[in-house]
Amino acid sequence: MKLSEILIRPLADGEDIPYALLLDADPSEALVTAYLKYADIYVAVMMNSIVGVYVLCQVGPHRAEIKNIAVKESLQGQGVGKLLLEDATKRASEKGYRELVIGTANSSVWQLYLYQKAGFEITEIRKNFFIDNYPGLLYENGIQVKHMIVLTKRLQ
Ligand code: ACO
Repeated sequence: MKLSEILIRPLADGEDIPYALLLDADPSEALVTAYLKYADIYVAVMMNSIVGVYVLCQVGPHRAEIKNIAVKESLQGQGVGKLLLEDATKRASEKGYRELVIGTANSSVWQLYLYQKAGFEITEIRKNFFIDNYPGLLYENGIQVKHMIVLTKRLQ
């Protein structure tokens, strides 16, 4: 896979929403449906096929949040996620936002690694977010999924 073959663009009017990818990042269909109502969806396309997605929402006067980011499983770990984060940063800057936020679970060690490497800093912990909003006990990397770690990147 060549990263130069990937184009990131807004999802077109009438184009199918890539729900399978969105649910890979966030298994709560209810939450996904709720934030899609006020979101902009961007897709990474390679050879006419959607291989990644991110969802950008305004969450304050000067603040946007990446509510969801996902890459097709067979292409993960090859730099597409980094490309999506760079694209989100650029678009949020161009829209005039001063801060870009992203949240992930305490157990999502590779996401925490990737987001901090991309310039996001931990700014908040939403205690028990996943216990309160998701059914059942969830485990990832052998760690119970409990808290949302919120990371913020300051934009120019
Ligand atoms: N072992 C070792 N290294 C890993 C692993 C792993 N299991 N997973 C990731 N990495 C490293 C990679 O080596 C790379 O590091 P590097 O830049 O130093 O080489 C980095 O972590 C991953 O970077 P990318 O390849 O750009 O990321 P990717 O294309 O896989 O996209 C994403 C990241 C979106 C998290 C993707 O893996 C994915 O879709 N995961 C499932 C859904 C998900 O968890 N989404 C995020 C939820 S949080 C939210 O949506 C706001």
